Amino acid sequence: MGKKSVPTAVQAKLVKLAQKAMRNAHAPYSKFKVGAAILLADGATFSGCNVENASYGMTNCAERTAIFSAVAELGPKIEIRAVTVVNDHGVPCSPCGACRQVIYEFGPDATIFFQSADGPKEAHITELLPEGFRLQ
Ligand code: THU
Repeated sequence: MGKKSVPTAVQAKLVKLAQKAMRNAHAPYSKFKVGAAILLADGATFSGCNVENASYGMTNCAERTAIFSAVAELGPKIEIRAVTVVNDHGVPCSPCGACRQVIYEFGPDATIFFQSADGPKEAHITELLPEGFRLQ
């Protein structure tokens, strides 16, 4: 049997953290609350929720909120191992294109757990974002 990218117990912990953060979402416009939790290479975890704005384009997705809190706390030398995304509608919700690029910046080998049209799914970031952009 191949080694799991993320142990089942850790996956469950990420779901719980994402669900907890989701409850803090500011989503009065879409009414679609999202929570995300990230696992770093050293085992640390961070979570985030979507934060919308009356000027809709200013919205920050849950995934980027979680990643930016990790950078704010630990600095930019973080390595994202996994990202888990949940929403309060129980519907398919994979990270948006902008978040994929931000995940790739700090986690070119990250595993993403999300709800797909075919149920819960696990995908490598490069499956979701082929040819991600990097400088140098
Ligand atoms: N959203 C996220 O926070 N993460 C995703 O992966 C998909 C979309 C948010 C943005 C916006 O606040 C709401 O969901 C509806 O698009």
